[in-house]
Amino acid sequence: MAAIISSAMLLAAGLLCHVVTAAAASTPPPPSSPIIPTTHSPSSKLHGRFLHITDFHPDDFYKVHSSTSEDHACHSGTGPAGFYGAETSDCDSPVSLVNATFDWISANIAHDIDFVVWTGDSARHDSDENIPRSPAQVLGTNRLLAHKFAHTFASHHDAHSLAIPVVPNFGNNDILPHNILLPGPNKWLKYYADIWKPFIPEEQRHSFEFGGWFYVEVIPNHLAVFSLNTLYLFDRNAGVDDCVKPSEPGYKHMEWLRIQLQFMRDRGMKAILMGHVPPARTDSKMLWDETCWQKYTLWLRQYRDVVVGGLYGHMNIDHFMLSDTKDITIDSTQVLPEQDIATRQQLDDELSVQSATDYLEELRQGWAKLPKVQINALEMEASNKKEKGHKDKGKKLGGKWAERYQLSLVSPSIVPNYFPTLRVYEYNITGLEDAVTWAEYSKPLPTTKKPALEEQVPMVIDTHPELELRSLPDLDAQEWEADETQTGDVEADKKKKKGKKPKKDKPKDPNLHIPLPPAKTALPGPAYSVQPLTLLGYKQYFANLTHINNLDVAAAEQDDDDDNGNGGFWWAAPFRWRPGKHGDKKPKSKKPKPRNFTFEIEYTTYDDKLYGLKDLTVRSFVDLAYRMGQSAKGKTAQLVLPGGDISDDLEDLNDEVEGEEMEEIASEDDDGLEETGGDGDLEAEKKKHKGDKKKKKEKKKKQKKMNKTWLHFLKHAFVSTVDDEELKEKFS
Ligand SMILES: *[C@@H]1O[C@H](CO)[C@@H](O)[C@H](O)[C@H]1NC(C)=O
Ligand SMILES: *[C@@H]1O[C@H](CO)[C@@H](O)[C@H](O)[C@H]1NC(C)=O
Ligand SMILES: *[C@@H]1O[C@H](CO)[C@@H](O)[C@H](O)[C@H]1NC(C)=O
Ligand SMILES: *[C@@H]1O[C@H](CO)[C@@H](O)[C@H](O)[C@H]1NC(C)=O
Ligand SMILES: *[C@@H]1O[C@H](CO)[C@@H](O)[C@H](O)[C@H]1NC(C)=O
Repeated sequence: MAAIISSAMLLAAGLLCHVVTAAAASTPPPPSSPIIPTTHSPSSKLHGRFLHITDFHPDDFYKVHSSTSEDHACHSGTGPAGFYGAETSDCDSPVSLVNATFDWISANIAHDIDFVVWTGDSARHDSDENIPRSPAQVLGTNRLLAHKFAHTFASHHDAHSLAIPVVPNFGNNDILPHNILLPGPNKWLKYYADIWKPFIPEEQRHSFEFGGWFYVEVIPNHLAVFSLNTLYLFDRNAGVDDCVKPSEPGYKHMEWLRIQLQFMRDRGMKAILMGHVPPARTDSKMLWDETCWQKYTLWLRQYRDVVVGGLYGHMNIDHFMLSDTKDITIDSTQVLPEQDIATRQQLDDELSVQSATDYLEELRQGWAKLPKVQINALEMEASNKKEKGHKDKGKKLGGKWAERYQLSLVSPSIVPNYFPTLRVYEYNITGLEDAVTWAEYSKPLPTTKKPALEEQVPMVIDTHPELELRSLPDLDAQEWEADETQTGDVEADKKKKKGKKPKKDKPKDPNLHIPLPPAKTALPGPAYSVQPLTLLGYKQYFANLTHINNLDVAAAEQDDDDDNGNGGFWWAAPFRWRPGKHGDKKPKSKKPKPRNFTFEIEYTTYDDKLYGLKDLTVRSFVDLAYRMGQSAKGKTAQLVLPGGDISDDLEDLNDEVEGEEMEEIASEDDDGLEETGGDGDLEAEKKKHKGDKKKKKEKKKKQKKMNKTWLHFLKHAFVSTVDDEELKEKFS
């Protein structure tokens, strides 16, 4: 252990990242330093792919063939803990899994990608009372991983620099006690500033030590990856408060993000946002402090011409979330509705599967309220005709690009809560064939070659970030209100409906600086319409540890676990701790005999017929979510109708769903939703009934496919560890 740590430290210390910095401007490079190559070697070209990897949770105390039960946690006893990890359990990862993962990456994808997004939790959980975590351990496994990344992505030409940028981020388990990160600067931020020295651009070290945030220009002058410190936005962090008070780190974080995104816009750049804890928020549950969610969502709406997407980890299940800009309340009232704060509870710190099923079901209930996306030109035209004279043309989606919504993609983990898994994204690099790569750019340059912009853009956040933040120009909120392309001003809409003029003199938060929206002439952003840097698709890889570990417990696997109180659903045990699919079985042979370790493709978005994602734009995901939501509608209606009350949900449905879809819903389970025109045209009524039978049949077929898509999604949520029959049973 000690050897690993100290060698990693040495390497990290030696790996200075020579990004062009303000300091470099005044200190010319030594004469011997290489000059930037004028022709690209094949390896320096962009590939249009990057890796997203998350939640390793390495555990130095993991013992092969130990017990996976809660009191042993794969540290002691005898049981089915496999050589490369105890799949489907709550145990953490053996170092052998970490090593094998990097070996596989090195052999298979390292040379095919342009950058790495690494979203944290690089330490074990505090799940064993006998071995409480220490700072040395938490930092030790973090150093191990930093070392692995530095080694795997080291340049072939120069072992002291990286071939491609790696963008780290810390998780709620990378600090002690977990979840609690006090405002910076503090010792934890200092530790990580050291451990991640090869990865954090030199000129942002100060800002990192202050707030734990930074960005990397992964394609200089074109694309930046923003590493957000989500611990300052995380509701469970008892060390901080909200994103409203200027003294709070969450507030400062949002200010930093706003300013940097404005610079990105000014420079014509785009940004990928990434972090550990995602902005999960359903009707009843949330992960972020509501005020932080509000600001983030508002920022992303205003910078929708800049942001490519949001990539997150933490939750371990494979899924995505759509944020609705109609839920933004701060820009119109500056005050949060009481009920919002009161009714939403914290999501489980780490999702046990029990709560994952509830959470996913709730996501789908939300998707049931989505408006339909007109996918092709024909449909679009048809609906335009239909909607002629309709006041609300295209409004529900926020225009044809669905700009009302924002997309966060959550990749599942390496730690085998299900199977270890990682994701390779593809993005559009049209027109960027000759872009200077990060590796070329980060070599010391003669100062004359530095882009002029670099000199124009002041170092906003440096040694006195607080002062700098406060001296920024105050953008008037009026500008936002005057922007008519917006769709999100619910309060104002409501007031208009009532014939009242929206009040301009409502109480304002003097510290809320609403960013400017995109220029009127700006094209839709890369998250919305396919263009350079748009995410196009991904491959999800998994390692089938059941196969690879090759444990000899197969005979007894099936009938296990009736005692977990959950009818044999090992994966949905109601307790926090899941011992995994093998339960308390013991391996027959003493010596582990694992097969060769490999990742294989679980699915790709390119050829998945049920998902039908021709790209990863928001519109494509709204369409997918809509289809899955439709299959939930029978359920929604059942849940709501017995009381006889038309609840908010139903009102929303009426609000959101077009006439055609209304029929679909009506023919499901209830007639209560039928839109009654009021003029009682009998002829039309009869005609309609005739067509109904045929329609019903078609609908049933369509429904089946929608349900199939939902099932498919659930299967992936649990990384293909749960079979369809069990999923059907559990979710019906
Ligand atoms: C993992 O790799 C490191 C080198 O990076 C090595 O020192 C260590 O022994 C390996 N551990 C295991 C369990 O394979
Ligand atoms: C990438 O974007 C360009 C420019 O908008 C577009 O012409 C091209 O079809 C896109 N490529 C892919 C693979 O979607
Ligand atoms: C994983 O391996 C086991 C054992 O070989 C096999 O039964 C199972 O179908 C595999 N799962 C997947 C998703 O490939
Ligand atoms: C497993 O790996 C070893 C060593 O790399 C190799 O010689 C062997 O052929 C592999 N076995 C299989 C089944 O792929
Ligand atoms: C689809 O799923 C819903 C709810 O989960 C159910 O009510 C409905 O009967 C299913 N439809 C088909 C065709 O299987």
